[in-house]
Amino acid sequence: KLRVAVLTGGGDCPGLNAAIRGVAKTLMLTVQAEIIGIEDGFLGFIERRSRTLSYQDCSGILSLGGTLIGTHNRANPFDYHGEDYSSRVKAYYDELGLDALVIIGGDGTLSIGYELTKLGMNIVGVPKTIDNDLMCTERTFGFDTAVSIVTEAIDRLRTTGQSHKRIMIVETMGRNAGWIALHAGIAGGADTILIPEHPYHIDQVAQACRTRMGSHQFSIVVIAEGAKPADGNVCVREILDNSPEPQRLGGIGEQLKQQLSVHLDAEIRATTLGHIQRGGSPTSFDRIFATNLGSYAATLVASGQFNRAVVQKGNQLSHVALACVANKTRFIPDDDPTLGTAIAMGICFGTEHL
Ligand code: F6P
Repeated sequence: KLRVAVLTGGGDCPGLNAAIRGVAKTLMLTVQAEIIGIEDGFLGFIERRSRTLSYQDCSGILSLGGTLIGTHNRANPFDYHGEDYSSRVKAYYDELGLDALVIIGGDGTLSIGYELTKLGMNIVGVPKTIDNDLMCTERTFGFDTAVSIVTEAIDRLRTTGQSHKRIMIVETMGRNAGWIALHAGIAGGADTILIPEHPYHIDQVAQACRTRMGSHQFSIVVIAEGAKPADGNVCVREILDNSPEPQRLGGIGEQLKQQLSVHLDAEIRATTLGHIQRGGSPTSFDRIFATNLGSYAATLVASGQFNRAVVQKGNQLSHVALACVANKTRFIPDDDPTLGTAIAMGICFGTEHL
């Protein structure tokens, strides 16, 4: 009988429970495997915390947000409070009598997994993140849900922005990539979308807002949290230096508001959506996708194919070396069709790259 552990690491995202369920039920039904849940990501390995998951435990969780077994995004066993706990992780893996470990995580978690394979652990990775920024896969689960949450938020901000004739800035998550901002911006009918892949010129953004205010008396600007001004942060820096309370300036959305207010005589409001974007129930797309990925990872384990990550390519699931996904970021490429649409429609601008 195979004994297989499952772990969720890094920031949570909708669909984690669907993936856990896909892994566990497939392995239980196909090879009668015993499933062990490692608690709170790699912290569970460091602190030796895990529990057996029954078939019943993995039922009724498909639609739930968060993760049944908990997660942690600052528990790197290779550097935990300055110490290397990796041999302790391997010792606990051996003590549990594991044949394999399925890691559901983003680039950081999967790169830890990759390093652990070098200690002789059998690992299969399942990529997840709302940011959609992992290499070697066309999509990650959690992204679709985040995009629909942001789209709904833009719809709501539109009615209040329109009523008050304001410029409404919406700051999205996405870390250093602009996937969420671009997709939700298009879905929500944003007038301007600012993404890290194309640093923005404040004059250009101000002009777009001015034109839109002239024709429609309100405007929606979606900005990714990683977006940057093209002129090397000069405006933001000036504002920070001159502000009596710089700590209250907040993130890039708030900073853009300050920058625009210098150029425009309009009321501007900024909303940072924050962790709302990754809480709650996954969309049906993410439920299906995460279930498929989890179940596929289980088939890799059952057939003894380790040190692989499950990915989607050309709308098909396949697998690549774990190293391919580890520690890299996938930015929006220049030939991305949605980016092309946004540029063609004057919603995204700029061709400069970081
Ligand atoms: O990677 C997912 C993500 O939600 C990013 O979009 C965001 O920058 C980050 O995690 C937030 O991390 P934390 O949960 O540590 O605040």
